Amino acid sequence: MSGALAGRRILIAGAAKGIGRATAERFVGEGARIAAFDRDEQALSALAAALPGNVTLPGDVADPAAVATAVQAAVSALGGLDGVVNAAGIDLLADIEAMTLADWQHVIAVNLTGPVLVMQAAYPYLKAAGGGTIVNVSSAAGLSPLARRTAYCASKAGLQMASKALAIEAAAFGIRVNAVCPGAVETDLFRSSIDAAADPQAAYEAVRARYALQRVAEPAEIAAAILWLTGDDSSYVTGTSIAVDGGRTFH
Ligand SMILES: NC(=O)c1ccc[n+]([C@@H]2O[C@H](COP(=O)([O-])OP(=O)(O)OC[C@H]3O[C@@H](n4cnc5c(N)ncnc54)[C@H](O)[C@@H]3O)[C@@H](O)[C@H]2O)c1
Repeated sequence: MSGALAGRRILIAGAAKGIGRATAERFVGEGARIAAFDRDEQALSALAAALPGNVTLPGDVADPAAVATAVQAAVSALGGLDGVVNAAGIDLLADIEAMTLADWQHVIAVNLTGPVLVMQAAYPYLKAAGGGTIVNVSSAAGLSPLARRTAYCASKAGLQMASKALAIEAAAFGIRVNAVCPGAVETDLFRSSIDAAADPQAAYEAVRARYALQRVAEPAEIAAAILWLTGDDSSYVTGTSIAVDGGRTFH
């Protein structure tokens, strides 16, 4: 098969919906074989039907045993690993006084510890393949803060620094590690925060107006950046965070 990722074997965490799903579709279209890891088994079944010949692995990215099992299963099914995309994530909109310790720990576990567990478990296989790529889906909220999202912003900024730190030691093994920082993207995660507002239409307009491009992104627009960071066209790029945010964070 031809394409920018022909023959590449990629594990995508959070592949069942939203940005992860768009990435899975794009990667398969570019010739990759993917292992899709996600906690949503129903959405994973839909993905399996849409992308036959690929692998689906149910599990929670914040559970070390589940991550180890999923990475092993991905390696067995694909015959090795050339890349990882960490797209699983959750949002939390809460005033600091309303946020419980359990809330904070859950956001950090899913958005920061989870991707680190996936990178750690996949690392020996990327080394064994003679190199590879890791792309972590952070957020523009990890570049420029948003109110009432203390845990979310901290988790996403932390993920960018984890990517940069790992990029230094991984370079010796031909492994590149980068992050993408999306602005608002039309997914279930985004919709649920809008729908939770007292006036969802006004909330949507307030978000849209923050962007220089004056619109919310489609998941495929983020997948395109993840593709670029995974493919050979970005061969001299590592340890960076790319804002794909319609211009929110530069102004
Ligand atoms: N949508 C946005 O506006 C936006 C903006 C910036 C960053 N992001 C980030 O992009 C990533 C993808 O978000 P999305 O908008 O596509 O959301 P989404 O809810 O559409 O998809 C997230 C996927 O991750 C999976 N997931 C969540 N928690 C998991 C867990 N513990 N274990 C395994 N899988 C889990 C979900 O089942 C789902 O399939 C997230 O990290 C999110 O923080 C989203």
